[in-house]
Amino acid sequence: MAATRNVMRAVRVFEFGGPEVLKLQSDVLIPDPKENQVLIKVHACGVNPVETYIRSGNYARKPALPYTPGSDVAGVVESVGEHVTAFKKGDRVFTIATISGGYADYAVAAANKVFPLSDKLDFRQGAAIGVPYFTAYRALFQKGCAKAGESVLVHGASGGVGIAACQIARACGLKVLGTAGTEEGMNMVLRNGADQAFNHREANYIDKIKEYTGMGGVDIIIEMLSNVNLAADLQLLNYRGRVMIVGCRGSIEINPRDTMSKESSIIGVGLFLATEEEKHECATALLDGIEAGWLKPVVGSEYPLEKVAKAHEDIIHGGGARGKMVLLP
Ligand SMILES: NC(=O)c1ccc[n+]([C@@H]2O[C@H](COP(=O)([O-])OP(=O)(O)OC[C@H]3O[C@@H](n4cnc5c(N)ncnc54)[C@H](OP(=O)(O)O)[C@@H]3O)[C@@H](O)[C@H]2O)c1
Repeated sequence: MAATRNVMRAVRVFEFGGPEVLKLQSDVLIPDPKENQVLIKVHACGVNPVETYIRSGNYARKPALPYTPGSDVAGVVESVGEHVTAFKKGDRVFTIATISGGYADYAVAAANKVFPLSDKLDFRQGAAIGVPYFTAYRALFQKGCAKAGESVLVHGASGGVGIAACQIARACGLKVLGTAGTEEGMNMVLRNGADQAFNHREANYIDKIKEYTGMGGVDIIIEMLSNVNLAADLQLLNYRGRVMIVGCRGSIEINPRDTMSKESSIIGVGLFLATEEEKHECATALLDGIEAGWLKPVVGSEYPLEKVAKAHEDIIHGGGARGKMVLLP
């Protein structure tokens, strides 16, 4: 439904809690872009797991209430604030952060967090770039120091960050192994850059990975569920291997001795800690990837804005990811 006059639909959170605290309202004022800001007509917005943690109120970073979630918007520029010269009304764009929130008909973003959306990608794909691709790039190169010729296991390769990691790693000359929880997910991982796929729901899949890598093991693991997999990951690493902690939903016991035998490293990844220079480096590499044609986000489930609570339920409890989840206003 199109917004009328100066009001729009937006999802508002008035209190922290379960998915039911996401309230779709239809009388929210369309924000005005201020100096160095861009107002975007939202065509799609990525749903990221972190938005569910923040909504629950159990996350380290809490926005002031009420707020509208959503950072990864793709759409068309509606208007621009003073001093914005890089964009004009009608431009196709995507964002990596919004000021007013992306789960809405319109969103305001700082112009330096907005990028042109290539004609090669549709809006749903544009909404799948932000958090997933920037995180995957940061994990691989800025924190993991990945090099061409090394091997990477994307442990949880079928979701937003996983597919991004497979595509980036493949394009940069790494050998890629990926895991998924379904046959469909494994096939998608193989189509998106992995040389080999494994099913993380099979009881003996860790043995299968060991058998595949032989004595050497993998140089890097991009880990999406470290509270389940970290102890096993340490068994899968090569000498001087690195486990990159991207996803974690609890605690796990490991034997620190397992890091000594191969001088392995366990490294945390926090996209929100990236400096402006690091974000710029990510953006440059990823925009090059879009132009070169290897960066092609895979969109899995799509939800209308009305079904936002279901989307938040499913991204945590659904299982069987098929790429990136997006909301469509
Ligand atoms: N540190 C950061 O800065 C940062 C940034 C972005 C995301 N994250 C975190 O990274 C994680 C992934 O994000 P996402 O956007 O890719 O989520 P997503 O799209 O929901 O994907 C979740 C992935 O985890 C996989 N998974 C499920 N069970 C697994 C298991 N036992 N072992 C390994 N993988 C398993 C899923 O596979 P199946 O569904 O096929 O089973 C799927 O590939 C989330 O926890 C998110 O919060 C962290």
